[in-house]
Amino acid sequence: MTNTNLVQQLYEQQPYPVPPTDMSDFVNGQMFPAGSPKDYFHLYWPDKPFRQDLEILIAGCGTAQATEFAITNPKAHITAIDLSSRSLEHTKMLLEKYNCSNVTLHQMSLELVGTLGQQFDLIICTGVLHHMPDPDVGLVVLRECLKSDGRLLAMVYATYGRTGVYMFQEYCRLLGVTWAPGSCEQMRQVLKQTPADHPIVSLAKRTHDLLSDAGMADLLLHPQDRAYTVGQLMQWLDDCGLGFERWLMQAPYLPRCCVLAQTPHMTKLNTLPMDQQYAAVELFRGNIHIHTFIASALQSPSVINWETDQWKTLVPIRMRGVTVQTENLPAGALASLQQAGHLFPVASVLLTQSNVAMYQAIEQGVTLGEISKKHPQTRDFFKMLWDFDQVFFRRA
Ligand SMILES: C[S@@+](CC[C@H](N)C(=O)[O-])C[C@H]1O[C@@H](n2cnc3c(N)ncnc32)[C@H](O)[C@@H]1O
Repeated sequence: MTNTNLVQQLYEQQPYPVPPTDMSDFVNGQMFPAGSPKDYFHLYWPDKPFRQDLEILIAGCGTAQATEFAITNPKAHITAIDLSSRSLEHTKMLLEKYNCSNVTLHQMSLELVGTLGQQFDLIICTGVLHHMPDPDVGLVVLRECLKSDGRLLAMVYATYGRTGVYMFQEYCRLLGVTWAPGSCEQMRQVLKQTPADHPIVSLAKRTHDLLSDAGMADLLLHPQDRAYTVGQLMQWLDDCGLGFERWLMQAPYLPRCCVLAQTPHMTKLNTLPMDQQYAAVELFRGNIHIHTFIASALQSPSVINWETDQWKTLVPIRMRGVTVQTENLPAGALASLQQAGHLFPVASVLLTQSNVAMYQAIEQGVTLGEISKKHPQTRDFFKMLWDFDQVFFRRA
């Protein structure tokens, strides 16, 4: 059996994620899928006017993702592909249940997506490329069906944070454990006895995957997966003709947003190019187990230049997922801001008497240049909010 067939067999037997039946939180706006363009349009395209009629490809949609995007982006046209007929059948049921008519489903392998003859504004491919026999082939195929100004949102496994997973995958191979009925429950009993300082423990606390058979199979009994360090990820994109635009959530990769900022190394870290700063933080944290990033086929990514006056043309947009806490604050703080989308601990941003008016100016929909007429700290404050995933920008 080829590796692709083994992967397909896994997801026929254990469709992933555990097939949901209730999507009402997506209907009522309580939840939104990671990277939804309705919420993040200008994170992908700071320079373009907002539009909703996007052509979206969801490559390896699993059981839920296509419906999540269809509900939350009703004016987009979504093409969703997957190897697993059971995942697609479940998706079809959900689409009918929620009256979504904006999705076309295909059972096919990602390698063949070019045969659809379509070009997409946005491709979502989370948790898929690292299961392909040759992820380079998958990435090149996706790049080839991106429009010239299209964007790819992808998630792949990260090496260091999955160290314990690979140890347990090897353990399962040694014992011949498969995803046969009953074996996941046995694994659960074994995992309960894992020593507290085993490398899998911190990940086990952060993932729901060990609670379900589908999650357990996906995590520990997968016939094929690989992971990337930050350096390998950047090289992979380069090799496949894509440019790194940004992390979906960037604060977990920035030295200034974690405790490294309080160490003597911060000065040195600040002198490194950005991809080396990300790599250093990945090594320092040790627990990043997935990388979720935006890439494009552009020659030079649309990076914000804070060193010229370019920042003055930016209009800040509050990012979804920000929580405001007003209790148990340090002296002088009026509120503390956290981004719920962070999987890894990030320092909170404090609002004080000196910056709260700048923060409130976000609601006015004006440029940073306008805000800076009254507030000389505008550039530094909004660069901080941006670093910490509190805001993103559209260009006026
Ligand atoms: C871990 S699940 C992720 C599902 C979804 N993207 C999400 O984030 O919830 C991986 C999915 O990719 C599909 N898949 C794996 N390899 C694929 C391939 N070569 N072509 C198409 N789909 C694939 C599997 O069938 C499975 O449904």
